[in-house]
Amino acid sequence: MVEQLSVSHADRTTLPAGTSETTTPVLDVRHLTKVFPIGGLFSRAGVHALQDVSFTIDAGQIVALVGESGSGKSTTARLIARLVKPTSGELLLDGTDVLKSQPRPTMEYRRRVQMIFQDPFGSLNPVHTIGHHLARPLQIHGKVRSGRDLRERIHALLDQVGLNPPAEVAAKFPHQLSGGQRQRVAFARALAVDPLVLLADEPISMLDVSIRMGILNLMDRLKDERRIASLYITHDIASARYIADNTVVMYAGRMVEGAESVELIDRPAHPYTKLLLSAVPNPKAGLKVTRTEARGEIPSLINPRPGCPFADRCPSVMPVCREQMPGFERLGDQHWVRCHLYGAGSEDHALAAMRPLTLYKPKTNRDVAAD
Ligand SMILES: Nc1ncnc2c1ncn2[C@@H]1O[C@H](COP(=O)(O)OP(=O)(O)O)[C@@H](O)[C@H]1O
Ligand code: SF4
Ligand SMILES: [Mg+2]
Repeated sequence: MVEQLSVSHADRTTLPAGTSETTTPVLDVRHLTKVFPIGGLFSRAGVHALQDVSFTIDAGQIVALVGESGSGKSTTARLIARLVKPTSGELLLDGTDVLKSQPRPTMEYRRRVQMIFQDPFGSLNPVHTIGHHLARPLQIHGKVRSGRDLRERIHALLDQVGLNPPAEVAAKFPHQLSGGQRQRVAFARALAVDPLVLLADEPISMLDVSIRMGILNLMDRLKDERRIASLYITHDIASARYIADNTVVMYAGRMVEGAESVELIDRPAHPYTKLLLSAVPNPKAGLKVTRTEARGEIPSLINPRPGCPFADRCPSVMPVCREQMPGFERLGDQHWVRCHLYGAGSEDHALAAMRPLTLYKPKTNRDVAAD
């Protein structure tokens, strides 16, 4: 699958995601931070699941969040879906600061931001037909006027996600479908309410390898047809290259590198990105996996130590890495990294580094040192 991924992506000519400086991005995530309190009412301990995460997604673009388990990917999606409250940060949907203007998520927000979960088996109710699963959101959000209209909309949705013949599929129960087909139903259900944003949290990781490509191709097609702003969450950096315009690499709750997906995979800068890539089979080397040396585990997120979170595993660690979190360093037009190997990064430099992905002032080395 990986071989297919890299080859077919080479021909793609897509606009880079999150690069618009003149238009308002559909989704604008600014300095999102989440600390889960632990240890009771009077405890000051907390799991620092997410720290200062920022990115934008434009209409018709896909941004991938990539990282190992525990890096904060699902927490990012859950904060954007407003299933949990952020500790701090801003969330702009179509230019509106929703955390300020709507202290509780409105039904309209729930409609506009749809989530696809990892487990296609758990996301559908076994006692209801597929038709029922699609009818509910259409009715709740007032998208249909008559029974006939409802049937036509359901069939059109099933057809759009490649489930045919629609009338037959609509009459089936979830257990009569394969994992891939159920995931297609989950996409159809999300599309039923015409969302602006789709948050797909590891949508292929529980599927057979043979049907993963079909789901990725479906997402790719929907982005073009529906102009949806999509967040694709994965631990598989190869699939991010295949489907996403831009990729952001996360480690221990922080963004560590970001670029256009092809650039990131062809010229990775951060030692962690290199580690992730070293686990991807290389077709030129006869699909042999050549792991980069990196000992240790993801550090504890409970009141984390200062400095770079990757320090304990990094083959290039330096004394400064254990003292100070690196700022953002620009490496190319849209390529930025957060690593001391790439210089201290002055405030101006850091601002320039973040501009392609964010339209506001990011934290710099100076801010980080003051934290
Ligand atoms: N409700 C919660 N309470 C405490 N810790 C949590 C909670 N949800 C997530 N976490 C922690 O936050 C970190 C990031 O989790 P998650 O966002 O699920 O990572 P990923 O999706 O990248 O695997 C993990 O250490 C996880 O244990
Ligand atoms: S900042 Fe230091 S420890 Fe962190 S990735 Fe860069 S070189 Fe390695
Ligand atoms: Mg997750």
